[in-house]
Amino acid sequence: MLGFMKAVAREAGRTAMTYFEGMRSNEVHAKGSPKDLVSAADVAVEQLIVKRIRERFPGHGIFGEESGISNSGSEFCWIIDPIDGTQSFVKHHPFFAVSIAFCEGRKPLAGVVYAPALNDLFAAEAGKGAVWNDEPIHASRCSELGEAACATGFACVRAGRKVNNLAYFSRIVSQLRDIKRSGSAALDLAMTGAGVYDAYWEMALQPYDVAAGALIAEEAGALVRDLHGGFHYPEQGIIAANPALLVKLLGFFRDLPELSC
Ligand code: IPD
Ligand code: CA
Ligand code: CA
Repeated sequence: MLGFMKAVAREAGRTAMTYFEGMRSNEVHAKGSPKDLVSAADVAVEQLIVKRIRERFPGHGIFGEESGISNSGSEFCWIIDPIDGTQSFVKHHPFFAVSIAFCEGRKPLAGVVYAPALNDLFAAEAGKGAVWNDEPIHASRCSELGEAACATGFACVRAGRKVNNLAYFSRIVSQLRDIKRSGSAALDLAMTGAGVYDAYWEMALQPYDVAAGALIAEEAGALVRDLHGGFHYPEQGIIAANPALLVKLLGFFRDLPELSC
């Protein structure tokens, strides 16, 4: 299954790059709010992924960011974010990824996150570990906030949430060694699995933002939880870190009473 998913992700990445490199014009529209964009590339890439899945698994369910839910009665479901990081994509910033997760019910069985402009492919199968360009990856062992290089995002601000990440960001940033905001939750989760980041957290994400990246992070040894320490992610926020750092970060968030995602 992972071989099929990698091949589809790479083909989808090639399609995305024809828009990214200007060979195809990439019309951009706002969907929902003016800050939430969808481009011709998002739609074309998702159509290609759906076509390949339907060719091979016609009865499976599909939940795509741009095309919605189909075959919802199937026990198997594909969760697709064709371009995670559209804001980057449309500004020619290379930090974006194709994200595909294969699930049985709500349980991800396999996931791929492919950044075509960076030529980085992260993949995982449940119970079989995670890889970065076919090399095994492991989450970091960093246990001190002051030594932690973290990543986060501001989906909640874009979504207009009154209770959002700004409160935590401004209070926690001085506790950390470094923090980055890359604009692709899927890549942030995968790179936390690779130990590039010691921890990642965000709020107001959707299942298609995190389904593949969360499996990759977990299979690499990170814990993935909601911001109350439970398993209701991404609805209640999402955080990924090794166990020692997760405890410290959750404790810190717990101290901030206004958390309600
Ligand atoms: C976005 C990215 C970003 C996150 C946004 C998401 P999109 O996905 O994952 O990191 O902060 O909230 O919407 O919209 O580019 O697919
Ligand atoms: Ca996304
Ligand atoms: Ca997207």
